[in-house]
Amino acid sequence: MANLLITEISSLAGIIENGALKLKGAEMAQFHAIADAWLWIENGKISDYGEMRNLDSSRFESIAHNRISAKDRFVLPCFVDSHTHIVFAKTREEEFVMRIKGKTYEEIAESGGGILNSAKRLQEMSEDELFVQAKQRLWDLIAFGTGAIEIKSGYGLTVVDELKMLRVIKRLKAISPIPIKATFLGAHAIPSAYKANRADYIRLIIEEMLPAVHAENLADYMDVFCDQGFFTPTETDALLEAAKSYGLKAKIHGNELGYTGGVQAAVRNHALSVDHLEYTGDDEIKCLLQSDTMPVALPGCSFFLGIPYAPLRKMIDAGLPVCLASDFNPGSTPNGRMGFVVALACTQMKLSPEEALNATTINGAYALELSHEIGSITRGKRANVFITKPMSSLAIMPYYFGVDQVSKVIINGEVFDSH
Ligand code: NIG
Ligand code: FE
Repeated sequence: MANLLITEISSLAGIIENGALKLKGAEMAQFHAIADAWLWIENGKISDYGEMRNLDSSRFESIAHNRISAKDRFVLPCFVDSHTHIVFAKTREEEFVMRIKGKTYEEIAESGGGILNSAKRLQEMSEDELFVQAKQRLWDLIAFGTGAIEIKSGYGLTVVDELKMLRVIKRLKAISPIPIKATFLGAHAIPSAYKANRADYIRLIIEEMLPAVHAENLADYMDVFCDQGFFTPTETDALLEAAKSYGLKAKIHGNELGYTGGVQAAVRNHALSVDHLEYTGDDEIKCLLQSDTMPVALPGCSFFLGIPYAPLRKMIDAGLPVCLASDFNPGSTPNGRMGFVVALACTQMKLSPEEALNATTINGAYALELSHEIGSITRGKRANVFITKPMSSLAIMPYYFGVDQVSKVIINGEVFDSH
């Protein structure tokens, strides 16, 4: 765990000093910053910071440390990506081309493509091969500024293959320099063999998958794709009730394809987050306002599938907290760059740069129960931060959409080397 002094920082931004674990409504517009600042990292943790004019470097002389100048640059907390599917076997660009030619995501799924296509390919791949590929994706994402991440199963859909995916995630946890949370998503789709008797698949999840996942301590959370053509709210209730008996909190994929009760199911089951939300109306907003469930939008999915964007502007204006994540997966979002998520949030969803950054840092951390340890510039938190390219203001990040402004990523106080 390293010691590092960063000096001459044009703006040290994303500072939280009041202990807030999430930000909601109008609070999201504040991304507190100090101009012309220094940041002292000790033993991999944010130890102190202040203005350059008050820097007394003699304080650090007796402690071995590295020193970096961040002149003209911003230093920000790393992104927290609270929703990904980075363990997968193959790309699905043929479905992408089918969609360009007019087929919808749901039509492709109904004809055995989509998630079932990914499951077939994953079932044929060894755990070792999946691990090598996923590790490379994880390392690439860290280099783009992600400092904590969630990874889901859900492309196994058999007992053996769901466990295989979760073991890959467990191995990633063991070697990852950044925190990882694992989510069991056996309820991602009904396998073809169970189309006529879906209750049997739900029983398989509850009676075989969940006990095995629990026995090996493979998951932190349980997710269900509660949407039209996938799992119903009633099925979701049964699945999450079972998960609860194994101590697994809920996360939900919901309201991506319609107003199908996913939000209500999430709130009813005290889910930590409900993710997607492309179809969110007044009833859903009212429901979320009475809960601690974090709404999570995945604008990369809307961009890639050409479906509506979640109405985050309306949700923030109603007083809700909102979070943004990548959803990196081979079907709906083959991209995990959080800088692009920020750009989409600003250009398509009308969030200010400050709101988009809070949604991808502290509120992402909340959605993973990590906001006491990461997600802001706060004394005592893990020093997962990045130094930008020279930037005149925060708005430059989304302004140069598609171009990463991340220049150096610091993980636990050390410069991250992606090679
Ligand atoms: O979050 N919507 C459900 N699951 C994934 C997509 C899965 C896939 O198409 O492979 C998502 O978008
Ligand atoms: Fe997803």
